[in-house]
Amino acid sequence: MNILVVGSGGREHAICHLFSKSKRASKIYCAPGNGGIAAVAECVPIKADDIEALCEFATLKSIELTFVGGETSLALGIVDEFQRRGRRIIGPSKAAAKLEASKAFAKDFMSVHGIPTAKYVTAHSPGFAILELESGDFGDASKPVVVKADGLAAGKGVVIAKNRAEAITAINEMATLVGTAAADKIVLEECLTGREISLLMFCDSEHFALMPATRDHKRIGEGDTGPNTGGMGTITEGSLVSPDQTNEIIEKIIKPTLRGCAKEDIPFRGVLFIGLMLTADGPKVLEYNVRFGDPETQSILVRLETDVVDICDAILNGSLDTLEIKWRTGSSATIVLAAEGYPAKPRTGDVIHGLDEATGVNGVNVFHAGTSRSADGEFYTAGGRVLGITAVADTLEDALTRAYSAVDKISWPGMQYRRDIGK
Ligand code: AMP
Ligand code: GLY
Repeated sequence: MNILVVGSGGREHAICHLFSKSKRASKIYCAPGNGGIAAVAECVPIKADDIEALCEFATLKSIELTFVGGETSLALGIVDEFQRRGRRIIGPSKAAAKLEASKAFAKDFMSVHGIPTAKYVTAHSPGFAILELESGDFGDASKPVVVKADGLAAGKGVVIAKNRAEAITAINEMATLVGTAAADKIVLEECLTGREISLLMFCDSEHFALMPATRDHKRIGEGDTGPNTGGMGTITEGSLVSPDQTNEIIEKIIKPTLRGCAKEDIPFRGVLFIGLMLTADGPKVLEYNVRFGDPETQSILVRLETDVVDICDAILNGSLDTLEIKWRTGSSATIVLAAEGYPAKPRTGDVIHGLDEATGVNGVNVFHAGTSRSADGEFYTAGGRVLGITAVADTLEDALTRAYSAVDKISWPGMQYRRDIGK
């Protein structure tokens, strides 16, 4: 089977790596890919948002299965376009992708279908958002409020304001932070407290298959300090969520979500990522993402033992309920190595040392997020998040030891990472 993976980050490297291990995949292409992905797939210089060019490429190369990495292409309707041309593609339709592309849509969806989430109000302009806060309906002025831009904002669209004054500043800055289109509407939310986890699942519109639960570390600094990033590290570990909590999440959140999608005629096919807060009142949804997470994917997929092409078939045929998906037992961890200046202004173009030594560590995969390769074979930094060092082992402690011992072998000027992933 000829396969096309759309995207260019560490997530897409992990997806391409998985396809490269499938007995059923022959040629793998990645658009646009990166320096490291080139080792497992042929990279083609088509951007993830150029849907027309991707469709033409799929026709030209007789692509039999396309897997979409990120939300941008999904929100633009890549799945609808491929399907219109009779091509098999994994991901939700443009209409279903609104669960991620519009926070206001997602909140209304949860409210209509009785899915537990933080209390919220949607304002149609910054002025109305400030009025909502000042009217007092939203609660106490000294309490924290979460301010969210409605549209896709690459992780920059959420501010946890400590009090009403900070919320007003955040509202006023939202458009400059994320662009006016994303901040067209603003969602204000009650601030939830508890432990945060992410649950990802394959969905065939009727059935779902859970992946191992994962935890992301979003802040740049150790001890969860400093600005938010796309994610500085993730773990998968059995104790993140108990069997009872999992059952509660399935009954109160996952099943109502899939039923709600079916009712609204936006059947969900692909990978659904639910960000959850485990609060004292039970699990509540923080957000839906309509695709694999980055770097969650790297930690999750190194544990997958079932052929990914079989899973894709089941998603497309509606037969996920009859496929047994096997996961390696134990734990995994991904440590993100980022460039100097990330997340504000990452410096690129530094030579990366020690990649071969790191890859040689037992149980470790080095996934490239933002690298380029020169003609002489050297790898250079080419993005904010540069590498995701991923390890599997029987225990979380061993996975972390393996991952950090591989991290120790890698260097470039200004390399940053967190030493407290999984702690
Ligand atoms: P989101 O993109 O909606 O997941 O928001 C990004 C991050 O902001 C989440 O992973 C949480 O850490 C935090 N967050 C979002 N909504 C809330 C909320 N209502 N209460 C507390 N934290 C939140
Ligand atoms: N790591 C968070 C995300 O992919 O949205």
